[in-house]
Amino acid sequence: MKTAITELFGIEHPIIQGGMHYVGFAELAAAVSNAGGLGIITGLTQKTPELLAKEIARCRDMTDKPFGVNLTFLPSFTAPPYPEYIAAIREGGVKVVETAGRSPEQYMPALKVAGIKVIHKCTSVRHSLKAEKIGCDAVSVDGFECGGHPGEDDIPNMILLPRAADELRIPFVASGGMADARSLVAALAMGAAGMNMGTRFIATKEAPVHLNVKKALVEATELDTRLVMRALRNTERVLQNKGVDELLQIERDKGATLKIEDIHDQVAGVYPKVMVDGEMDAGAWSCGMVVGLINDIPTVKELIDRIVTEAEQIIRQRLTGFLDGVAASKPARAVA
Ligand SMILES: Cc1cc2nc3c(=O)[nH]c(=O)nc-3n(C[C@H](O)[C@H](O)[C@H](O)COP(=O)(O)O)c2cc1C
Repeated sequence: MKTAITELFGIEHPIIQGGMHYVGFAELAAAVSNAGGLGIITGLTQKTPELLAKEIARCRDMTDKPFGVNLTFLPSFTAPPYPEYIAAIREGGVKVVETAGRSPEQYMPALKVAGIKVIHKCTSVRHSLKAEKIGCDAVSVDGFECGGHPGEDDIPNMILLPRAADELRIPFVASGGMADARSLVAALAMGAAGMNMGTRFIATKEAPVHLNVKKALVEATELDTRLVMRALRNTERVLQNKGVDELLQIERDKGATLKIEDIHDQVAGVYPKVMVDGEMDAGAWSCGMVVGLINDIPTVKELIDRIVTEAEQIIRQRLTGFLDGVAASKPARAVA
């Protein structure tokens, strides 16, 4: 399948693995890139720019295909040295950066001068237009369903994607709620040139996280995510667990007076506990509603091959079948 996104990034399939804290290590990024998608290392999971440089080198040892690095600009307890992280990316020869959180405007010159393509993750049309204006090459349009930070507008992809298609000139991928061939075909139908998946890629053999995390994703349903930190305007969609229940209780008790310090224990340092030690009740970690569509733990290649094969079946059989009048009585599962 060729789209504006496969052409822009020099990849085979229009499927991107979004940056994920404590998940987006070289193993996963390389597996996605080797399977024909675009794998992304999560920059800030590496505690220093030197460690990021090493992670990039590790990834390069595992794949000769293009891969990217995510740089997230979110409120944090201490601000990371972004220029040094960008230097590590540039010196590592990485040609794609996924930015997220705040606008990457201030860092665009440093990225562009190195010939780096920038895909900015946005949760609204206005932020997508801003990204286009400041010279981003593409955007990842992240709907309200998404795991992580859906912003504060609460617009799901069924509305957000066609709205983005109406306004944007640069290509965009659909992000949030994407899991399978149906997601990809629907995203393409709504004007996207591909899709970005986060949560789905955690439940793969290569994702370097504790098996408890993958099992929890297979067991959870679409009813099991919660929104936290709304009062701080730093909303995050996370998987429900005991730590998250405590957090929500604190939020109810504090109301509008909530401060980040009040929930420090439920949000700070949670990722290593969950992803490395498999402590599933440790606190808030990002997870999308798409968890309701995750029923297995395939290899990344099996997952991507399945998506591409079934997408072709949906387009060639189900969709053209409607036009030819032969698919009307077929079951809704869409693929054989
Ligand atoms: C465990 C986890 C950690 C994430 N960490 C980050 C991050 O550090 N930076 C970022 O830009 N996005 C992060 N995301 C968001 C993903 O890159 C992606 O946009 C999102 O997962 C898409 O929604 P989906 O989970 O429904 O596929 C994270 C998502 C998950 C599930």
